[in-house]
Amino acid sequence: MGATVTTFSELLRRRAGRSDAAAGTSGAHGLLAGECEVADYADLLGQYAVVYAALERAAERMADHPVAAPFVTAQLTRLPAIRADLEYLVGPDWSELCCPTPATTAYVRRLNEVAATSPGGFVAHHYTRYLGDLSGGPSLARLLEERFGFDTNGVLFTIFDQVADPAAFEDTYRAELDAAPWSAEEREAVLAEVDLAASLDRAVLRSIGHGAPAVTA
Ligand code: HEM
Repeated sequence: MGATVTTFSELLRRRAGRSDAAAGTSGAHGLLAGECEVADYADLLGQYAVVYAALERAAERMADHPVAAPFVTAQLTRLPAIRADLEYLVGPDWSELCCPTPATTAYVRRLNEVAATSPGGFVAHHYTRYLGDLSGGPSLARLLEERFGFDTNGVLFTIFDQVADPAAFEDTYRAELDAAPWSAEEREAVLAEVDLAASLDRAVLRSIGHGAPAVTA
């Protein structure tokens, strides 16, 4: 029998470390959510508005780069949905009321530094956010519907209406990750950036008091 080869996309999946339990599929998160108010969820979306604005600006810049281009697609774009949710939840002046926390500012600073300049760095951040949100979206939507009765308004962020088959989309995305022409060192750098992106994401959750004190880095 030959040795089992772990694909690069599998290594990335392990590294991103987003747990289904955290996203609510186990039901445990749904139970915890009893303590969460609409304002807390709006606060989280306010942070995501700033993060996705930076990520989607980086995507525009990377759209013509031969290595990054296969990952860039308008099917994933989240900012218009986040803005619409915040208008519904907070009101038209949401952008004046939602303040980025220092953790969000640090995340955006890293995005601007790395994702806008290096294709591998960009893909690491793109992958960490979108694939996590794509797979966590349905359970988050369920949780928000159970907790607040939201159906469409307020939860557009969780609905990837341009992605008809999320599992097939993920498979294609992972195949692109495996096909990207990265050297061993570049792959290491992408893995390290995924680690960083995941911890920047967790820091944002913590910065709005999310899950405290249960959240551990
Ligand atoms: C409606 C209310 C809530 C919403 C919308 C919400 C949303 C989320 C989201 C989007 C994530 C990120 C999932 C991922 O990384 O894949 C998350 C993670 C998490 N949530 Fe919540 N949540 C809510 C309530 C709560 C409450 C009340 C607690 C605990 C008291 C909690 C504990 C956690 C923990 C421990 C994580 C994992 C964080 C980590 O990876 O470090 N959540 N939640």
